Amino acid sequence: MIQPHGADTLNPLLVTDAVERDDLITEAATLPSLLLTSAAAANAVMLGGGYFTPLSGYMNVADALSVSQKMHTVDGLFWPVPVLNLTDDISGIEGATRIALRDPNVDGAPVIAIMDVDAIEEISAEQKETMTEQVFGTLDSSHPGVAVFQAEGKYCVSGPIQVLNLSYFESEFAGTFQTAVEIRDDIAARGWEKVVAFQTRNPMHLAHEELCRMAMERLNADGIAIHMLLGKLKAGDIPASVRDACIRKMVDVYFPKNSVLVSGYGFDMLYAGPREAVLHAVFRQNMGATHLIVGRDHAGVGDYYGPFDAQAIFDEIPEGALDIEIFSADHTAWSKKLNKVVMMREAPDHEPGDYVFLSGTKVREMLGDGIAPPPEFSRPEVAQILMDHYRSDGTEAAKA
Ligand code: ADX
Repeated sequence: MIQPHGADTLNPLLVTDAVERDDLITEAATLPSLLLTSAAAANAVMLGGGYFTPLSGYMNVADALSVSQKMHTVDGLFWPVPVLNLTDDISGIEGATRIALRDPNVDGAPVIAIMDVDAIEEISAEQKETMTEQVFGTLDSSHPGVAVFQAEGKYCVSGPIQVLNLSYFESEFAGTFQTAVEIRDDIAARGWEKVVAFQTRNPMHLAHEELCRMAMERLNADGIAIHMLLGKLKAGDIPASVRDACIRKMVDVYFPKNSVLVSGYGFDMLYAGPREAVLHAVFRQNMGATHLIVGRDHAGVGDYYGPFDAQAIFDEIPEGALDIEIFSADHTAWSKKLNKVVMMREAPDHEPGDYVFLSGTKVREMLGDGIAPPPEFSRPEVAQILMDHYRSDGTEAAKA
């Protein structure tokens, strides 16, 4: 099986031994505590589940700058996006060497992890700008990822952590949320060697589905791991429970049994395009995938990135930095001439009018009006789930 990134074995920071965990929970009650940002809590969940192997905790400013500028830590570990714990309020933890980290995403803000504090450093405005520009490619605060990052505090609290729980993901997405450890075990139990990962934050329409099928066939893979984001998204994106239902329905009806592993991970979307694509590759390698599909505008938003920038970045990363390989896909859409979904570069005789194109806005409008998008765009079973969602969402909005 493919090796984890930068290590022989996974390094999940979740404490699974019940006695040790109970001791830590008791200790946490005696420690100074820090209320995390959602982004920092999501980092704890990823660290806890082994997805961020081989990291042992949150980065300091030197590592965060090095990762932002050169995609490696000061010690030379290849890593594409800083893993940070930022706050504006250090009044409760100044001088402390061991602290409890509290989860902002769960009622009552319970402790999610314990940290040995290596440093509390102030990030200058200039350093934060450098990080923003390098990671997101823009300083524009209308970019949803930039807005979140800019709103995070100026103090960087770094050091190793022990994770006590995986936030709301296990209870809210039981059966779908899985750690990298669980997915690796699942892949091993299935006896799969070549595994294609599909990153998604959307309900899967026909182009997504066919992209998976194409990758699977062309790579002669043993299976596909559809791995959906379960953390926070920008306003207007479709809730994870609805996307999960759509994906499971599509897999049930349209894929051969036992060819697809459906699961999700607890991380907030960064919308960092190319850099996030590389992070996606790192943690898919950690979960045991040998390939990651990177298509059009992967992890993008608005017009901040070129449609294939998230593929081009993989040409810049040092040889041997990652073992996972990329399946680069061109824009896929339904061809009216060929009566199937095709990659556009493989249909050079086609004009734009030969494809069925629907913008996201148009699709949302149709679903909101109870009109199913055409079968060339969306499976009817998936369209039904989405129409039900939009209808109940409308009812909720009307009630509010
Ligand atoms: S993402 O932010 O998670 O990348 P999304 O769920 O829409 O968004 O996309 C999942 C994957 O499918 C990404 O690799 C994306 O590039 C790819 N993709 C989505 N739609 C298309 C399309 N029409 N053609 C080619 N690739 C696509």
